[in-house]
Amino acid sequence: MLEKIREIYKEVESIVIENAEQLEKFRIAYVGRKGVIADLFENLRNAPPEDRRAIGAELNNLKNLAQDTFTQNRDRLENEQTQTGQPAPVDLTLPGTPNQLGAVHPLSIVRARIVEIFERIGFNVADGPEIEDDWHNFTALNFPPNHPARDMQDTFFVEKNPDIALRTHTSSVQVRLMENGKPPFRAIMPGRVYRNEAISARAHCLFHQVEGLYIDENVSFADLKQTLYYFAKELFGKDTKIRFRPSFFPFTEPSAEIDISCFICKGKGCNICKYSGWVEIGGSGMVDPNVLSNCGIDPEKYTGFAFGMGIERITMLLYQVKDIRLFTENDVRFLRQFGPVS
Ligand code: PHE
Repeated sequence: MLEKIREIYKEVESIVIENAEQLEKFRIAYVGRKGVIADLFENLRNAPPEDRRAIGAELNNLKNLAQDTFTQNRDRLENEQTQTGQPAPVDLTLPGTPNQLGAVHPLSIVRARIVEIFERIGFNVADGPEIEDDWHNFTALNFPPNHPARDMQDTFFVEKNPDIALRTHTSSVQVRLMENGKPPFRAIMPGRVYRNEAISARAHCLFHQVEGLYIDENVSFADLKQTLYYFAKELFGKDTKIRFRPSFFPFTEPSAEIDISCFICKGKGCNICKYSGWVEIGGSGMVDPNVLSNCGIDPEKYTGFAFGMGIERITMLLYQVKDIRLFTENDVRFLRQFGPVS
């Protein structure tokens, strides 16, 4: 054993360490807990008791030599590096550190798809403020003064001022668009809206809508139907059917709810469409002549249609998300399922 120790001693004495890599190899081979010297210490137990002392002393010398060699070389290498001002040589073949990619929010994915479909048929994107006055959110849109939608239960008023509120729908952007321009108008208006509702799996006080407006001479209900039919086929698949149910909105006459055939069960009936074969995606109608004149547009000359859809609702249908609250909880386990940014 003594012989082995001396042999290693010589090895360590004559070792040349030129870079960090060699230093690390040296550390593992001699200084580390799994190195040869540690092994020898283990074997010391098997040496004849009368020799143990002498061997132990030699072994300690070797250990100190290895430790000193390591620290000296380490200090020298560090020193060299700071003196030359050069960083240690970089291994360019090492793989890079991958960037952590985020995921696009599902509502953003669906909004972008909706925008893209309408842009293809000539609609521009328009925008408006989320804090609105009574005129743009209600009065110009033909809401009678005592209409329940103005009620405190539905609307968040700002600082108890009954004239200023968080917009309850994107229809307020229609008004701004018409007031500030001249027909024809062909625009869609995606945006955030607020309603004072109890939060549940199906309803939230904050959600997104996309409004559409088309005003020109001779625009008819047939244009409304074809536009939405095209949209439904593009978004939900080419076999999608569309149906209109009579409805009421103060700002459209006639008005209709828009249903699409259930794209999950293809109309056969499933729990998504509640076994009816149809799912509702929004409201629509021909812009009421009162709204046109409120916005300075001659209702004798121009007609138009408007529609509004909930982006959460469409996203929940497309991805079968069962709870609207998931969209605002920012749980990455939910968000990551929609794939990384591509
Ligand atoms: N603004 C309506 C709502 O929020 C939707 C709608 C828009 C209906 C445009 C008809 C026309 O429910």
